[in-house]
Amino acid sequence: MSSLRTELSLSAAHPSSIRCDALVLASRSVDGKAELVGELDLPRTVSTSINKTLAAVGAGGTAGEVITLSDVAKVTAELVLVVGTGKDSRRPGVTEPDALERVRRAAGVAARALAGKERAAFAMGPPTPELVAATGEGALLGAYAFQSFFGVGKTSSAKKPLGSAVLTGIKPRAKEGREMVDRLHTVATAVFYARDLVNTPPNALYPESFASSVTRRAPKNVKVEVWDPERLEAEGCGGIVGVGQGSARGPRMVTMTYAPRGAKSSVAFVGKGITFDSGGLCLKPATGMVTMKCDMGGAAAVASAVIAIAELGLPVAVTGYLCLAENMTGDLAQRPGDVVTMRDGKTVEIINTDAEGRLVMADGLALASEQRPDAIVDIATLTGACTVALGSRTFGVMGNNDDVIERALGGATAAGEPAWPLPLPEELRASMDSPVADIKHTGERAAGAMIAATFLAEFIGPDASGSTLPWAHLDIAGPAFNDNSPFGYTPKGGTGAGVRALVEFARGYVA
Ligand code: BES
Ligand code: MN
Ligand code: ZN
Repeated sequence: MSSLRTELSLSAAHPSSIRCDALVLASRSVDGKAELVGELDLPRTVSTSINKTLAAVGAGGTAGEVITLSDVAKVTAELVLVVGTGKDSRRPGVTEPDALERVRRAAGVAARALAGKERAAFAMGPPTPELVAATGEGALLGAYAFQSFFGVGKTSSAKKPLGSAVLTGIKPRAKEGREMVDRLHTVATAVFYARDLVNTPPNALYPESFASSVTRRAPKNVKVEVWDPERLEAEGCGGIVGVGQGSARGPRMVTMTYAPRGAKSSVAFVGKGITFDSGGLCLKPATGMVTMKCDMGGAAAVASAVIAIAELGLPVAVTGYLCLAENMTGDLAQRPGDVVTMRDGKTVEIINTDAEGRLVMADGLALASEQRPDAIVDIATLTGACTVALGSRTFGVMGNNDDVIERALGGATAAGEPAWPLPLPEELRASMDSPVADIKHTGERAAGAMIAATFLAEFIGPDASGSTLPWAHLDIAGPAFNDNSPFGYTPKGGTGAGVRALVEFARGYVA
């Protein structure tokens, strides 16, 4: 596994005089041309000359742009990197990241460009605590490399992530500063864990090894319980057992409990953990299967978020449920036409064995409901349809309660993770009526993401007074895995999508 290598530190020195391999500055796009952002604490002659150079090379200041300058007069650093943050005027009809997220992404772009370097200083704008934190977070998240499975062909040539990032503008000894650095390290380490879990090849990461990784990794204030296939059977988890029975590597349910003293609220997170999705007997085509090690991205996000929340010591009780199974085609594999009985007693007619995620999640949601938390959030790489609807960077948010949906969207926005709501119109349910069981697990073809969520909604249990518990569902099928080139602080492969959104969601329940 690749752990966080980059060390964050703070400096109150002038950015121009810090000794390092590179000084990272931010530009913005003004009338299509790059201009250093204001209040950078640089000598006027330095910023004037850099702005001249930016104009001369035709820099645009757009997001993702990196202009590298060397031997800049009156700057100690060997290189100056000017990274674009884009426009800060809102274009009508276009959903743009907020100012802090633009800084996070630009810092991530710089960190990626600086792979192999030892030390870089960052000055990305007026050094408010929020902007410095966003800079540090983006730099850490961008400095990721998954190299655990490089063999003799690559180990010696691979570039290591940036060694240290110095954030300018904050006194290093200020207590708030030290707390900020600790918090950023904790969160980035958790995001890296989720990325590592997703990137780990499916012959190395299967339900049992996933469960033992989480058991080893969880801090002391998180209690971890693992149910093996026999226990799952005994506990009536027919959804997980059914999906897992086609694999020689049996399913697991992992429960992670963080219950700090004095917590006034409780939330439950449920994650889809299909360590490989072949489609089962309704086999996927080869092209659709190649990235299906990512199908445990929801469970990875839950595990990482619970660990981060516990390490941050947030005063809110959180229980994570990881629904782990491998969807394979062994001779015991679930068949279309089978009927399984879920944890809450409902029976489900199996139609398409490739719609396995909602089956394992149904048991997880029913289990979570038994504890009657104040809110349930599930997160799953559930449907290709969600990617068709929202693209590969924005996750879908659905649910049964406007307050929890708003909080889930708010948590995502606070983290800089793009998210968008989809409705669950009541007429969708009829297409899941079954002639032989309580419900079928697939319905009409249109609105696949919403159909899947409509199925999940059936398994949210009642609160003490008999009304259905508040629940939101995050479909991260697109954002969990980046098939394309890296962008911002997002690497190729596992992205850690949802980890920070869940942490922010939990923060919203701190009294
Ligand atoms: N794991 C997939 C969804 C998925 C697709 C995740 C692409 C990430 C990228 C899920 O189990 C699945 O196969 N869903 C089917 C549902 C259908 C059979 C009703 C789908 O989306 O086609
Ligand atoms: Mn599937
Ligand atoms: Zn799946």
